[in-house]
Amino acid sequence: MKKKVTVFAPASIANLGCGFDVIGLALDEVGDVLEISASDGDGISIVNETNIPLPTDTELNVITPVVRKFLEMISEKAKIKVRIIRKISPGSGIGSSAASSAAAAFGMNQLYDCPLSEEDVVLCAMEGENLASGGYHADNAAPAVMGGIVLIRGYEPLDLIKLPVPGNFYCSVAHPHIMVSTKEARSILPREISLHDAVRQWGNVGGMVSGLYSGDMALVGRAMKDLVAEPYRKQFIPGFDDLRTRVMDAGALAMNIAGSGPSVFALADSYRTAVLTEKIMKEHFASTGCETYAIKITNRGARVL
Ligand code: HSE
Repeated sequence: MKKKVTVFAPASIANLGCGFDVIGLALDEVGDVLEISASDGDGISIVNETNIPLPTDTELNVITPVVRKFLEMISEKAKIKVRIIRKISPGSGIGSSAASSAAAAFGMNQLYDCPLSEEDVVLCAMEGENLASGGYHADNAAPAVMGGIVLIRGYEPLDLIKLPVPGNFYCSVAHPHIMVSTKEARSILPREISLHDAVRQWGNVGGMVSGLYSGDMALVGRAMKDLVAEPYRKQFIPGFDDLRTRVMDAGALAMNIAGSGPSVFALADSYRTAVLTEKIMKEHFASTGCETYAIKITNRGARVL
């Protein structure tokens, strides 16, 4: 067993349009950094060394249930200290809670010389997601641990499938400075959808998986449509439809809400288009302020620094 590890876990985009709670991808260039150490004893302490405000009550930090679950799964007791060194803003829609949860689960596994499988590491990370959003979804946590694009084929038991990332898969992402809580964004969704919408949605999920395997980015773009969450959530994002028209006119293959929002992302098949659509997003959200990124999607997930 190691005394201390420093780990990184990336931000992520959940849903990818059609795959509500079942598809997500890692955004390798943005993420959280944690230093985790263990000593004899019991209990968890968390020190936030960033300037991002986080709950000071340890019980309210997503890292706590993740660490507890990990120790329970390997039947160990220890005094765990976590230093949060880098943090994505909570409520961003690019998997802030998942990045912390994935870094905590992955880091604990590294600290103990990897007793858990990758799927079990994701299971631990999902405890943090449950605290943050009131649901055990893995479409941020799985890509944050595993990297690339991940399909959650099933939850009971967890069945994770890493999908291929085409070589020309780029995204522009904008995180407007608006607060949308995942809990609220989930609570407004209807519990049932019509058969008509379900048929379109699963057609798109199949289309997306097929497009990723064949490297057909136009097909991936056509399939990146959401009838389940977007119609109810886009009200939280000022000018969502206008922005989509503008980025599509500029050559994007699709634009959707990232996870539960307020971030949005546009799909592109070249870095040039991603940069162009990033600029349009920046202008669009000028009044609220925003962070933007133009990113090539890779297969890199959580890792030791
Ligand atoms: N699939 C989840 C949702 C992701 O859309 O609520 C939250 O980031």
